[in-house]
Amino acid sequence: MKEIEITSKVRIYDYNELTDSDRELVDRAKAATQTSYAPYSKFCVGAAARLSDGTIVAGSNQENAAFPSGTCAERTALFYANASHPEESVVELAVAAYANGAFLKAPIPPCGACRQVILGIEERYARPVRILLFGTEGTYVVSSVKALLPLQFTGETMNE
Ligand code: THU
Repeated sequence: MKEIEITSKVRIYDYNELTDSDRELVDRAKAATQTSYAPYSKFCVGAAARLSDGTIVAGSNQENAAFPSGTCAERTALFYANASHPEESVVELAVAAYANGAFLKAPIPPCGACRQVILGIEERYARPVRILLFGTEGTYVVSSVKALLPLQFTGETMNE
């Protein structure tokens, strides 16, 4: 038997400690929570992606009575970014969530499906996507989705 340990580095910043650029991206994600359509969960998520040319594309979760037909904020923003700016890589992504009249205290962790989509985008553009997960008590920052998704399944996996 062998055992491996997989570790991730997460940096935690107070909102006031964020750089102007990071705060701008987080603010866009926070603003995007207000465009959420979440009549079922009442859980409003916003995401903002900064692209390689500096463009920021934001999105929010969009729900449907047939639950699986809705989509998360991260995928709304990322797929729109890829569809509207296919030549630009995704440099970083901020996520925020608003529920019961307030932003979440704890950082909002992307769901597994969104982590896999971010991984696909890292693979597509051959660069890591820096991720900022906003919470009022701290913003978690990781330098790649790999920090949130150990043992990744990529296109390469099928060629091994
Ligand atoms: N949701 C997101 O938009 N992003 C996440 O990272 C987690 C969950 C949405 C999906 C659904 O509309 C609502 O939050 C409750 O799960």
